[in-house]
Amino acid sequence: MSTAPTSPAETAIERLTVDLDARSYDILIGGGLLADAGAHIKPVLRSDRVVVITDENVAQAGHLATLTQSLTAAGITSQAIVLEPGEQTKDFAHLERVCGELLEMGIDRKTALIALGGGVIGDLTGVCAALTLRGIDFIQVPTTLLAQVDSSVGGKTAINTPQGKNLIGAFYQPRLVLADTGVLDTLVPRELRAGYAEVVKYGVIDMPDFFTWLEGHGAALIDGDAAARREAILACCRAKARIVSADETEQGQRALLNLGHTFGHALEAEVGYGGGLLHGEGVAIGMVMALTLSARLGQCPGNDGARLAAHLAATGLPHDLSALDTSTWTTERLLGHMMKDKKTEGGELTFILARGIGGAFIEKAVPQAPVARVLEEFLSGQS
Ligand code: GLY
Repeated sequence: MSTAPTSPAETAIERLTVDLDARSYDILIGGGLLADAGAHIKPVLRSDRVVVITDENVAQAGHLATLTQSLTAAGITSQAIVLEPGEQTKDFAHLERVCGELLEMGIDRKTALIALGGGVIGDLTGVCAALTLRGIDFIQVPTTLLAQVDSSVGGKTAINTPQGKNLIGAFYQPRLVLADTGVLDTLVPRELRAGYAEVVKYGVIDMPDFFTWLEGHGAALIDGDAAARREAILACCRAKARIVSADETEQGQRALLNLGHTFGHALEAEVGYGGGLLHGEGVAIGMVMALTLSARLGQCPGNDGARLAAHLAATGLPHDLSALDTSTWTTERLLGHMMKDKKTEGGELTFILARGIGGAFIEKAVPQAPVARVLEEFLSGQS
Protein backbone atom coordinates (compact mmCIF):
# COMPACT_ATOMS: atom_id res chain seq x y z
CA MET A 1 0.00 0.00 0.00
CA SER A 2 1.32 3.45 -0.84
CA THR A 3 2.39 5.70 1.98
CA ALA A 4 3.14 8.61 -0.33
CA PRO A 5 2.86 11.92 1.47
CA THR A 6 0.42 14.43 0.07
CA SER A 7 2.00 17.81 0.80
CA PRO A 8 5.51 19.29 1.17
CA ALA A 9 4.86 19.98 4.86
CA GLU A 10 4.29 16.27 5.43
CA THR A 11 7.50 15.27 3.65
CA ALA A 12 9.67 17.65 5.69
CA ILE A 13 11.82 15.54 7.97
CA GLU A 14 12.12 16.65 11.55
CA ARG A 15 15.17 15.50 13.52
CA LEU A 16 15.09 15.32 17.33
CA THR A 17 17.88 14.02 19.54
CA VAL A 18 17.73 11.84 22.63
CA ASP A 19 20.72 13.18 24.49
CA LEU A 20 22.50 10.36 26.31
CA ASP A 21 26.19 11.15 25.84
CA ALA A 22 27.85 8.30 23.91
CA ARG A 23 24.49 6.57 23.46
CA SER A 24 22.71 9.63 22.01
CA TYR A 25 20.58 9.04 18.93
CA ASP A 26 18.24 10.81 16.59
CA ILE A 27 14.52 10.42 15.99
CA LEU A 28 13.56 11.21 12.40
CA ILE A 29 9.89 12.03 11.83
CA GLY A 30 8.22 12.64 8.48
CA GLY A 31 5.92 11.32 5.77
CA GLY A 32 7.45 8.91 3.24
CA LEU A 33 10.58 8.20 5.33
CA LEU A 34 10.34 4.44 4.88
CA ALA A 35 11.05 4.61 1.16
CA ASP A 36 14.29 6.39 2.00
CA ALA A 37 15.09 4.44 5.13
CA GLY A 38 18.29 2.85 3.79
CA ALA A 39 19.93 6.21 3.22
CA HIS A 40 19.03 7.36 6.74
CA ILE A 41 20.08 4.10 8.38
CA LYS A 42 23.40 3.59 6.58
CA PRO A 43 25.37 6.25 8.53
CA VAL A 44 24.63 4.58 11.87
CA LEU A 45 25.53 1.03 10.76
CA ARG A 46 28.81 -0.66 11.68
CA SER A 47 28.58 -3.04 8.70
CA ASP A 48 26.42 -3.32 5.60
CA ARG A 49 24.38 -6.17 7.03
CA VAL A 50 21.04 -5.96 8.87
CA VAL A 51 18.26 -8.32 9.93
CA VAL A 52 14.74 -6.89 9.87
CA ILE A 53 12.34 -8.25 12.49
CA THR A 54 8.69 -7.62 11.72
CA ASP A 55 5.24 -9.21 11.80
CA GLU A 56 2.89 -10.64 9.18
CA ASN A 57 0.52 -7.63 9.24
CA VAL A 58 3.33 -5.15 8.64
CA ALA A 59 4.78 -7.32 5.90
CA GLN A 60 1.35 -7.71 4.25
CA ALA A 61 0.82 -3.93 4.33
CA GLY A 62 3.88 -3.70 2.07
CA HIS A 63 6.18 -1.98 4.57
CA LEU A 64 8.76 -4.79 4.62
CA ALA A 65 9.08 -4.63 0.83
CA THR A 66 9.44 -0.83 0.91
CA LEU A 67 12.10 -1.02 3.61
CA THR A 68 13.97 -3.87 1.90
CA GLN A 69 14.08 -1.97 -1.40
CA SER A 70 15.45 1.12 0.28
CA LEU A 71 18.09 -0.93 2.09
CA THR A 72 19.17 -2.58 -1.17
CA ALA A 73 19.30 0.81 -2.88
CA ALA A 74 21.63 2.00 -0.12
CA GLY A 75 23.93 -1.03 -0.55
CA ILE A 76 22.78 -2.74 2.66
CA THR A 77 22.25 -6.53 2.69
CA SER A 78 19.14 -7.54 4.61
CA GLN A 79 17.39 -10.67 5.79
CA ALA A 80 14.02 -10.76 7.52
CA ILE A 81 12.32 -12.65 10.32
CA VAL A 82 8.53 -12.36 10.09
CA LEU A 83 6.59 -13.20 13.27
CA GLU A 84 2.91 -13.64 14.14
CA PRO A 85 1.26 -10.35 15.10
CA GLY A 86 -0.02 -9.76 18.63
CA GLU A 87 1.06 -9.36 22.22
CA GLN A 88 1.58 -13.16 22.58
CA THR A 89 4.69 -12.80 20.39
CA LYS A 90 6.45 -10.92 23.18
CA ASP A 91 7.44 -13.96 25.23
CA PHE A 92 10.36 -16.22 26.08
CA ALA A 93 9.46 -18.72 23.33
CA HIS A 94 9.72 -16.07 20.61
CA LEU A 95 12.82 -14.53 22.18
CA GLU A 96 14.51 -17.95 22.05
CA ARG A 97 13.33 -18.54 18.50
CA VAL A 98 14.51 -15.17 17.16
CA CYS A 99 17.88 -15.29 18.93
CA GLY A 100 18.34 -18.84 17.58
CA GLU A 101 17.48 -17.77 14.02
CA LEU A 102 19.90 -14.85 14.24
CA LEU A 103 22.71 -17.19 15.29
CA GLU A 104 21.77 -19.66 12.53
CA MET A 105 22.02 -16.79 10.04
CA GLY A 106 25.61 -16.31 11.19
CA ILE A 107 25.29 -12.70 12.28
CA ASP A 108 28.28 -11.00 13.86
CA ARG A 109 28.70 -8.18 16.36
CA LYS A 110 28.50 -5.53 13.65
CA THR A 111 25.20 -6.79 12.28
CA ALA A 112 22.30 -4.53 13.25
CA LEU A 113 18.67 -5.47 13.85
CA ILE A 114 15.83 -3.34 12.53
CA ALA A 115 12.54 -3.48 14.44
CA LEU A 116 9.86 -2.81 11.82
CA GLY A 117 6.51 -2.80 13.59
CA GLY A 118 4.62 -1.75 16.68
CA GLY A 119 5.49 -1.96 20.34
CA VAL A 120 5.56 -5.75 20.45
CA ILE A 121 8.12 -6.03 17.64
CA GLY A 122 10.13 -3.11 19.03
CA ASP A 123 10.26 -4.64 22.50
CA LEU A 124 11.12 -8.15 21.37
CA THR A 125 13.77 -6.90 18.94
CA GLY A 126 15.28 -4.69 21.63
CA VAL A 127 15.64 -7.61 24.03
CA CYS A 128 17.16 -9.76 21.25
CA ALA A 129 19.61 -6.97 20.44
CA ALA A 130 20.55 -6.52 24.08
CA LEU A 131 21.27 -10.24 24.58
CA THR A 132 22.57 -11.62 21.29
CA LEU A 133 26.37 -11.78 21.16
CA ARG A 134 26.19 -9.71 24.40
CA GLY A 135 24.69 -6.78 22.56
CA ILE A 136 24.34 -5.68 18.95
CA ASP A 137 22.95 -2.45 17.49
CA PHE A 138 19.30 -2.02 16.68
CA ILE A 139 17.17 0.54 14.91
CA GLN A 140 13.53 1.27 15.58
CA VAL A 141 11.21 1.77 12.61
CA PRO A 142 7.85 2.10 14.40
CA THR A 143 4.73 1.52 12.30
CA THR A 144 2.02 2.19 14.89
CA LEU A 145 1.03 5.44 16.55
CA LEU A 146 1.74 3.90 19.96
CA ALA A 147 5.26 2.93 18.95
CA GLN A 148 5.95 6.26 17.22
CA VAL A 149 4.96 8.38 20.22
CA ASP A 150 6.18 6.16 23.02
CA SER A 151 7.65 2.68 22.90
CA SER A 152 10.23 3.12 20.12
CA VAL A 153 11.94 5.97 21.98
CA GLY A 154 13.81 5.60 25.24
CA GLY A 155 15.31 2.12 25.25
CA LYS A 156 12.80 0.27 27.40
CA THR A 157 12.71 -3.26 26.01
CA ALA A 158 10.94 -6.22 27.60
CA ILE A 159 8.95 -9.40 27.17
CA ASN A 160 5.91 -10.66 29.09
CA THR A 161 5.87 -13.70 31.37
CA PRO A 162 2.99 -15.52 33.09
CA GLN A 163 3.82 -13.37 36.13
CA GLY A 164 3.08 -10.11 34.34
CA LYS A 165 3.82 -7.66 31.60
CA ASN A 166 7.28 -6.35 30.72
CA LEU A 167 8.94 -7.93 33.76
CA ILE A 168 11.96 -9.33 31.87
CA GLY A 169 13.99 -6.91 29.81
CA ALA A 170 16.67 -4.26 29.67
CA PHE A 171 17.23 -0.57 29.15
CA TYR A 172 18.89 -0.78 25.76
CA GLN A 173 18.86 2.24 23.48
CA PRO A 174 18.41 2.04 19.71
CA ARG A 175 20.91 3.73 17.37
CA LEU A 176 18.16 5.54 15.45
CA VAL A 177 14.38 5.89 15.43
CA LEU A 178 12.74 6.42 12.07
CA ALA A 179 9.04 7.32 12.28
CA ASP A 180 7.27 7.49 8.91
CA THR A 181 3.97 9.20 9.69
CA GLY A 182 2.58 7.99 6.36
CA VAL A 183 2.53 4.33 7.45
CA LEU A 184 -0.18 5.14 9.99
CA ASP A 185 -2.64 5.21 7.07
CA THR A 186 -2.45 1.40 6.96
CA LEU A 187 -3.32 0.94 10.65
CA VAL A 188 -6.69 -0.49 11.61
CA PRO A 189 -8.74 2.20 13.42
CA ARG A 190 -8.75 0.32 16.72
CA GLU A 191 -4.93 0.18 16.78
CA LEU A 192 -4.69 3.85 15.90
CA ARG A 193 -7.10 4.81 18.70
CA ALA A 194 -5.21 2.66 21.18
CA GLY A 195 -2.02 4.52 20.28
CA TYR A 196 -3.85 7.80 20.69
CA ALA A 197 -4.28 7.02 24.39
CA GLU A 198 -0.50 7.38 24.77
CA VAL A 199 -0.69 10.74 22.98
CA VAL A 200 -3.32 11.93 25.47
CA LYS A 201 -1.06 10.68 28.28
CA TYR A 202 1.56 13.36 27.52
CA GLY A 203 -1.07 16.09 27.89
CA VAL A 204 -2.25 14.70 31.22
CA ILE A 205 1.32 14.37 32.54
CA ASP A 206 2.63 17.90 32.11
CA MET A 207 1.35 19.48 28.89
CA PRO A 208 -2.11 20.93 29.66
CA ASP A 209 -2.04 23.18 26.56
CA PHE A 210 -1.35 20.11 24.42
CA PHE A 211 -4.34 18.39 26.03
CA THR A 212 -6.52 21.38 25.11
CA TRP A 213 -5.11 21.22 21.56
CA LEU A 214 -5.99 17.51 21.43
CA GLU A 215 -9.56 18.28 22.51
CA GLY A 216 -9.77 20.40 19.37
CA HIS A 217 -7.80 18.17 16.99
CA GLY A 218 -7.91 14.61 18.37
CA ALA A 219 -10.91 13.43 16.37
CA ALA A 220 -9.43 14.78 13.11
CA LEU A 221 -6.08 13.19 13.94
CA ILE A 222 -7.78 9.81 14.33
CA ASP A 223 -9.79 10.33 11.15
CA GLY A 224 -6.59 10.80 9.13
CA ASP A 225 -5.58 14.48 9.33
CA ALA A 226 -1.90 14.09 8.43
CA ALA A 227 -0.88 17.54 9.68
CA ALA A 228 -2.51 16.93 13.07
CA ARG A 229 -0.83 13.52 13.33
CA ARG A 230 2.54 14.97 12.54
CA GLU A 231 2.15 17.81 15.04
CA ALA A 232 1.06 15.42 17.79
CA ILE A 233 3.85 12.91 17.10
CA LEU A 234 6.43 15.70 17.17
CA ALA A 235 5.08 17.05 20.46
CA CYS A 236 5.10 13.59 22.05
CA CYS A 237 8.59 12.68 20.80
CA ARG A 238 9.96 16.03 22.02
CA ALA A 239 8.47 15.33 25.44
CA LYS A 240 9.74 11.78 25.49
CA ALA A 241 13.25 12.79 24.38
CA ARG A 242 13.32 15.46 27.13
CA ILE A 243 12.21 13.04 29.85
CA VAL A 244 14.47 10.14 28.76
CA SER A 245 17.50 12.42 28.35
CA ALA A 246 17.02 13.56 31.95
CA ASP A 247 16.29 10.16 33.48
CA GLU A 248 17.20 7.23 31.25
CA THR A 249 16.73 4.41 33.76
CA GLU A 250 13.68 5.75 35.59
CA GLN A 251 15.27 6.82 38.84
CA GLY A 252 12.80 9.70 39.01
CA GLN A 253 10.65 11.66 36.59
CA ARG A 254 10.61 9.07 33.79
CA ALA A 255 8.14 7.15 35.96
CA LEU A 256 5.57 9.83 35.07
CA LEU A 257 5.35 8.13 31.65
CA ASN A 258 3.75 5.21 33.46
CA LEU A 259 0.59 7.23 34.12
CA GLY A 260 -2.36 4.87 33.82
CA HIS A 261 -0.09 1.85 33.42
CA THR A 262 -0.36 0.26 36.88
CA PHE A 263 -4.13 0.06 36.54
CA GLY A 264 -3.88 -0.61 32.79
CA HIS A 265 -1.44 -3.50 33.10
CA ALA A 266 -3.69 -5.12 35.73
CA LEU A 267 -6.65 -4.88 33.35
CA GLU A 268 -4.58 -6.31 30.50
CA ALA A 269 -3.40 -9.20 32.69
CA GLU A 270 -6.98 -9.96 33.74
CA VAL A 271 -8.33 -9.90 30.17
CA GLY A 272 -5.36 -11.91 28.89
CA TYR A 273 -3.00 -10.96 26.08
CA GLY A 274 -5.16 -12.27 23.22
CA GLY A 275 -6.36 -8.87 21.94
CA GLY A 276 -9.43 -8.47 24.19
CA LEU A 277 -7.93 -5.25 25.54
CA LEU A 278 -5.16 -3.49 23.65
CA HIS A 279 -2.37 -1.90 25.68
CA GLY A 280 -3.47 1.64 24.80
CA GLU A 281 -7.07 0.82 25.72
CA GLY A 282 -5.86 -0.38 29.12
CA VAL A 283 -3.86 2.84 29.50
CA ALA A 284 -6.94 4.93 28.60
CA ILE A 285 -9.07 3.32 31.32
CA GLY A 286 -6.05 3.28 33.65
CA MET A 287 -5.57 7.06 33.31
CA VAL A 288 -9.20 7.69 34.29
CA MET A 289 -8.74 5.32 37.24
CA ALA A 290 -5.57 7.20 38.23
CA LEU A 291 -7.38 10.55 38.17
CA THR A 292 -10.27 9.02 40.12
CA LEU A 293 -7.81 7.70 42.72
CA SER A 294 -6.18 11.16 42.82
CA ALA A 295 -9.59 12.70 43.50
CA ARG A 296 -10.43 10.13 46.19
CA LEU A 297 -7.10 10.93 47.88
CA GLY A 298 -8.02 14.62 47.83
CA GLN A 299 -5.31 15.48 45.31
CA CYS A 300 -7.31 16.24 42.19
CA PRO A 301 -10.13 18.72 42.79
CA GLY A 302 -12.53 19.74 40.06
CA ASN A 303 -13.76 17.77 37.13
CA ASP A 304 -10.49 16.86 35.39
CA GLY A 305 -11.24 13.13 35.57
CA ALA A 306 -14.58 13.74 33.86
CA ARG A 307 -12.88 15.99 31.29
CA LEU A 308 -10.39 13.23 30.48
CA ALA A 309 -13.14 10.60 30.26
CA ALA A 310 -15.16 12.87 27.96
CA HIS A 311 -12.20 13.35 25.62
CA LEU A 312 -11.48 9.61 25.51
CA ALA A 313 -15.15 8.92 24.74
CA ALA A 314 -15.16 11.61 22.03
CA THR A 315 -12.25 9.87 20.31
CA GLY A 316 -13.74 6.38 20.61
CA LEU A 317 -11.56 5.14 23.46
CA PRO A 318 -12.84 3.30 26.53
CA HIS A 319 -12.81 5.16 29.85
CA ASP A 320 -14.56 2.55 32.01
CA LEU A 321 -15.04 -1.24 32.14
CA SER A 322 -18.47 -1.33 30.48
CA ALA A 323 -17.23 -2.96 27.26
CA LEU A 324 -15.44 -5.79 29.11
CA ASP A 325 -16.85 -8.98 30.60
CA THR A 326 -15.91 -8.42 34.23
CA SER A 327 -18.32 -11.00 35.69
CA THR A 328 -15.49 -13.08 37.18
CA TRP A 329 -13.26 -10.15 38.20
CA THR A 330 -12.54 -9.18 41.78
CA THR A 331 -10.63 -6.27 43.31
CA GLU A 332 -8.35 -8.82 45.01
CA ARG A 333 -7.28 -10.30 41.68
CA LEU A 334 -6.66 -6.87 40.18
CA LEU A 335 -4.68 -5.81 43.26
CA GLY A 336 -2.72 -9.06 42.95
CA HIS A 337 -1.68 -8.09 39.41
CA MET A 338 -0.66 -4.64 40.65
CA MET A 339 1.55 -6.07 43.38
CA LYS A 340 3.66 -7.68 40.61
CA ASP A 341 4.16 -4.29 38.93
CA LYS A 342 7.80 -3.23 38.54
CA LYS A 343 7.09 -0.03 40.46
CA THR A 344 6.02 -1.89 43.61
CA GLU A 345 8.68 -1.34 46.27
CA GLY A 346 8.87 -3.39 49.46
CA GLY A 347 5.32 -4.60 48.87
CA GLU A 348 4.01 -1.02 48.58
CA LEU A 349 2.26 0.36 45.53
CA THR A 350 3.57 3.34 43.58
CA PHE A 351 1.10 5.27 41.45
CA ILE A 352 1.31 8.19 39.09
CA LEU A 353 -1.37 10.53 40.38
CA ALA A 354 -2.35 13.99 39.15
CA ARG A 355 -3.38 17.29 40.68
CA GLY A 356 -5.30 17.81 37.47
CA ILE A 357 -4.66 17.59 33.73
CA GLY A 358 -1.01 18.56 33.27
CA GLY A 359 -0.12 18.00 36.93
CA ALA A 360 1.03 14.39 37.26
CA PHE A 361 3.27 13.36 40.14
CA ILE A 362 4.75 10.17 41.60
CA GLU A 363 3.19 8.88 44.81
CA LYS A 364 4.93 6.04 46.64
CA ALA A 365 3.44 3.81 49.32
CA VAL A 366 -0.18 4.33 48.29
CA PRO A 367 -2.37 2.31 50.71
CA GLN A 368 -4.34 -0.53 49.15
CA ALA A 369 -7.72 0.48 50.62
CA PRO A 370 -8.40 3.56 48.42
CA VAL A 371 -7.10 1.68 45.37
CA ALA A 372 -9.50 -1.17 46.13
CA ARG A 373 -12.37 1.34 46.49
CA VAL A 374 -11.63 2.83 43.05
CA LEU A 375 -11.53 -0.66 41.54
CA GLU A 376 -14.87 -1.46 43.22
CA GLU A 377 -16.38 1.73 41.80
CA PHE A 378 -15.32 0.78 38.29
CA LEU A 379 -16.35 -2.87 38.67
CA SER A 380 -19.79 -1.86 39.90
CA GLY A 381 -20.17 0.60 37.04
CA GLN A 382 -20.33 3.69 39.27
CA SER A 383 -17.44 5.33 37.42
N1 GLY B 1 6.66 3.87 28.08
C1 GLY B 1 7.18 4.45 29.26
C2 GLY B 1 8.62 4.75 29.19
O1 GLY B 1 9.23 4.63 28.14
O2 GLY B 1 9.19 5.14 30.16
